[in-house]
Parts: sequence; structure tokens; C-alpha cells
Amino acid sequence: MSRPLHIAVLVSGGGSNLQALIDAGLPGCEIALVVSNRPDAGALERARAAGIPTAVITSTPEERRTLERPARDAVVEKRLETRLREARVELIVLAGYLRILSPRFVRRWPERILNIHPALLPDFGGPGFYGRHVHEAVLAAGARESGATVHLVTAEVDGGPILAQERVPVEPGDSPESLAARVLAVEHRILPVTVAAHAVRLRKERLRVMVVGGGGREHALVRGIAADPWVDFIHALPGNGGIAELATCFPIAATDLDAIEAHAVEHGINFAVVAPDDPLVLGLVDRLAARGIRSFGPTKAAARIEGSKRYAKNLMRKYGIPTADFAEFENVEAARAYLHTKTVWPQVLKADGLALGKGVYIAPDPAAAEAALAALMIDRAHGDAGRSIVIEDWLGEPAREITVLAFCDGERAVAMPSSMDHKRALDGDKGPNTGGMGVIAPNPLYTPEVAARVEREILQPTVAALQAEGCPFRGCLYLGLMLTDDGPKVIEYNCRFGDPEAQAVLPLLESGLLPLLEACADGCLDRVDVEFQEAATCTVILTSAGYPGRYQTGFPIDFGGVEELPDIFIYHAGTKRIGKDILTSGGRVLAVTARAATLPEAIDLAYEASDRIHFEGRSCRRDIGAAALRHLKEHS
Ligand code: AMP
Ligand code: GLY
Repeated sequence: MSRPLHIAVLVSGGGSNLQALIDAGLPGCEIALVVSNRPDAGALERARAAGIPTAVITSTPEERRTLERPARDAVVEKRLETRLREARVELIVLAGYLRILSPRFVRRWPERILNIHPALLPDFGGPGFYGRHVHEAVLAAGARESGATVHLVTAEVDGGPILAQERVPVEPGDSPESLAARVLAVEHRILPVTVAAHAVRLRKERLRVMVVGGGGREHALVRGIAADPWVDFIHALPGNGGIAELATCFPIAATDLDAIEAHAVEHGINFAVVAPDDPLVLGLVDRLAARGIRSFGPTKAAARIEGSKRYAKNLMRKYGIPTADFAEFENVEAARAYLHTKTVWPQVLKADGLALGKGVYIAPDPAAAEAALAALMIDRAHGDAGRSIVIEDWLGEPAREITVLAFCDGERAVAMPSSMDHKRALDGDKGPNTGGMGVIAPNPLYTPEVAARVEREILQPTVAALQAEGCPFRGCLYLGLMLTDDGPKVIEYNCRFGDPEAQAVLPLLESGLLPLLEACADGCLDRVDVEFQEAATCTVILTSAGYPGRYQTGFPIDFGGVEELPDIFIYHAGTKRIGKDILTSGGRVLAVTARAATLPEAIDLAYEASDRIHFEGRSCRRDIGAAALRHLKEHS
């Protein structure tokens, strides 16, 4: 048996409907919290008598003095939401709660708020129809019958789908009180059975989530998903030492599509989050869909935007999306001849296929280009990924790069805060390319003007282009941009969250992650709110000495207590858990993210936390965010 479904009952008055729910002993459910907006509500006594935790949530005298109505309501709702999430509430029952929940709140709890109304909706419902007023109105209208209705709450007051209704005849000589008493008896009967039936449905619909991948990015995703009360369980394939605290890890590689598919079917997975590029490009989402499993992530056809540089470049050319001029080659001689015609240098040579992020050569002169050509096409340093290549103009220095991640549902795209990755291994953007050594978000280069251009010239046109090509993009679209003198241009697309960009951007997300991932999969991003905090983050990657070259692993990690600090997020990348110990197991070991009001504070905090963590060979760049700070200084 899975855990009981947590219910919160919201009340303002005496709480006889709450008592009916308590007395009914709802099977498979637990009333985890009773909330009132009034400290003197009789319902609170009933809850305490039944041993149910209670909370009085209302505005403080200070807030009533200083805040206008809408702002005050928003503060109270936020407090309510926090409390509900802490109690892991999955269903809210309004049992005489005399506050109207905002459309924003209601959207965050779809089909998860029930209300009991003392009349036959849709008649005698809407704003103003509560308590005694309802019965007065029924009698004044000369109605022959009234009754009680249990319905789902939508943004339209008393207008949501009806789950149960029972009639009560109006008798000659009825007063509002006598009618109310008979209606109340019916309420007490239909509310518990309807709540119980709805709870059965919600328990069945709980998400059995599979997250494919095992790095810091996946840890950030799992953290967000695990915060959601309507998750049954999370399986991570293969996961890592940090993910293991929140999910069950299975030693299945992210590229072993057969094993992943079999696992999903065997365990009744009903929602998959495919995070890394390889399984997406190989078509895992299509295979899961064929098994009736919904996924967050693009299909194989849509993932070509990352899987083939030629595909991406030709798409941009066809749809007029700004990017560097380019040519594509399958033959060394032709590529060499083309390079001879070039008068502007550097030129950038790229393997067409996936090459672990290492198939890009920036050639400052013809000799370097010749060497890159040999590596790519003759020596096949990246295997078949270099069977064909793209050669393009160089767009500028890494300090001018911007990452923008966007939630996409096939038709719509909603951009997340921008970020700046630091791909080179050493301070000052020196040394070899890596998987990413640190990130800051948002990126100060991404001014409102640049953002508007990216939306208009790049993001929305890309989503529209993929839709027009018959492969709508659902998942996270990654725009790797260069801010050139001619405006923003695309360096590359990825078909997934960036790593480590996700570790810097997701801690800024205020809305629930899981409903967003589901909305992308289901093509209904317009129905959910996407809200981010106005704060800054800095992520520092701690690596094993030697990375991205050879390095040793298996060293114990001492976290120095930083995991407990507020606004510090430790994401595991290359770790494994052996008993109680966490050991290093990869090149990039941990991502340390700090969140603060301003970028300088976030950077200081991230390094303060990083420096308290110890393991043998621990290395990191010391200048994450330095280029961004310089930029801010020059432009202030
Ligand atoms: P990619 O594998 O496409 O992410 O490329 C790796 C890195 O190479 C990018 O993050 C850029 O820093 C750099 N790069 C790729 N293409 C260009 C270009 N056309 N101009 C300047 N830098 C580039
Ligand atoms: N951080 C770069 C990437 O995820 O490709």
C-alpha cells in the first residue's frame, strides 16, 4: 500500500463539515492539516480534539496597516502555500472557508481543491453566495428545492465541475435557518463520500517518475520533482550519490535504451524526464511514447537540433534565424578548398554529430584549421560524429556568450532566466573545454533589449520552425548565444537542460517544477504559471584534480556542514554513496550553488561554501562570474 493521501481542510467557522470528515475516517487518507483564517474558529477545537495539526493563517496587524488588499492577500496565500507544501498536502477541501482563493493559487492546484456549497449549483452560486445568504436567496426566489453540491474549484467562483449533488425540497414555512439545517445534514453525508472517491482517483494518478541521467543537472531536477506532493516515487537511472537521498537509483546507463524501456514498463512509470542528450538523440522519448508513457523531452526528430549541427544550421538558414555563416562538408578536399578561400579568421570547425561537447575546434589560422580537419575527418578523433562537418565564422569571445533555457510545449516557449557558463578548464577562459566549470544567472549581458530580440528573432522562430518541419519541440530548449555587434546569434542549440546551467537556473524557479515539466509534455504551457525569483545565483563546480584529463576517484567528501546553510544548494555530479560515506566518482564532482539578492553576493557565498567542502584533489576555477562583474562595472 502506498502512503495515505494528505488532505488539508480549510475552515472559517464551527467546522461541522470537518467533523463529518473526521468521523467518516476516510480510507487511504489522512487529514494532515486544518487551516483557518480565524483564530477563534470552532473548527480548530474539533481538529485539536482529533489530534490533527492546525494552523491559523491570516494577515498580521502590521500587514493590515501597510499593505493594500491584493498585496495582502498574496502574502497570506504564499504563507498558506508554504504550509500546505510542508505538510505534503495533495488535496484541499474547503469546508466553509470564507476567503476566495486567487486564480493564481487555484491554477497551482488543478483538480486538487474541493468545495462544498449549500445549494444546487449553478444556481445560487458565485461571489456573495455564502452561508445564510444562500438560503435567504433560495427562499426569496421561491425555489421549490435546494440542496448541496460538491465541486472542483476553478478560477471561476463556484463554477468548477460538479462531483456530487443532492436535492433538498423546500417546505412551506421554511426559514433560512430551517432550510439550512436540512441542507447541512445532506452536506455531512455527501462531502465525505465525495472526498473519499476523489482521493482514490488522485492516488491512482500519482506520478511514478523516472529520471534518466546521473549528473548535477539530474540532481537539480530530482530535487525539484521530489518537492511535489503528488509524486508516488522517483526512480533515477543511473542517478548518483546525492540523487540517492531522494530517489531510488538503478545502475542502468542513460544510453541503454532497451534496459530503460523495460524498467519503465516493469515499474509502471507514468512520467519520464529524459535529461541527457544521447538518449534523446537516440529516440528514447519515442520509444516510451510507443509504450504509452509520457515524457519530458523532445522526440528523436526534434532532438536533431542538437544531434546534428548540419540539421541545426540548415534549419536556421531556412528560417532566417541569426547564426554564423557556414558551409557543410563530407569530404576533406572540399573542406580544404573552402578554407583556402577564407579571408576572415578564426574559422570554427565542428563535427556534425554528438561528440561529448568536444567536437568543436576554433582555428585561429589556416595551419590550425588543417590540423582540426585532420583530427575530425582523417583521424576520426570523434568517431562517426566527424563523418561530416560544419565550418563557420567565429562569432566572438566566450565572455560574450549567453545561455537561455526555455520550457517548450511544441507550440509555445517560455524562457527561463539567462545564464553564463564557463566552459574552459582554467581561470581567464584558458585551458581545454570542459563540461562546464561554473555558471552565473542571470547573465548581465542579457539586457531587456537583448532579451526582446532573442524572443523575437530566435526563440519563438525556432519553436515555430520545428513545428513547421513537423517535429514540434517539447522539453527544454537550450539556446547557446553569442552577443555580437550585430545582435544575438545562435552558436548552438541543445535539446535539454544545460549542465551546469540547470544547477544555477532551477534554484530561481518559484513555481512547482513538476507541473511545468508535465505541461511541456502535454502541450499546455499556457495553463500553468511560470514564476522565477528576482535573485542571482552562482554555481561553482568542484572537480577532481586533472579534469578534464586523467584524474583519480574514490576519495571521501567532507561537506563541512554546508548542506544545511540557507540559500546553498549542493548538487552531486560525480559521487557515489558507500554506506554512510559519499565518495568521488567522476571528474566533475559537485556543483555548489549559492542564491542571493545580487550577483556579487551570490559569488562570494558560493566560494565561501565551496571552500568548506574538502576531498583529495579538489579543484575549481576561482573566477566564476568575474567576467560578468567586469561587464556590470563597465556599464554602470
Ligand atoms: P559547442 O560544442 O557547439 O557548445 O561549442 C563549444 C564552444 O565553442 C562554445 O561554447 C563556444 O565557446 C565556442 N564556439 C562554438 N562555435 C563558435 C563560433 N562560431 N564562434 C565563437 N565561438 C564558438
Ligand atoms: N553547459 C553546456 C551544456 O550543457 O552543453
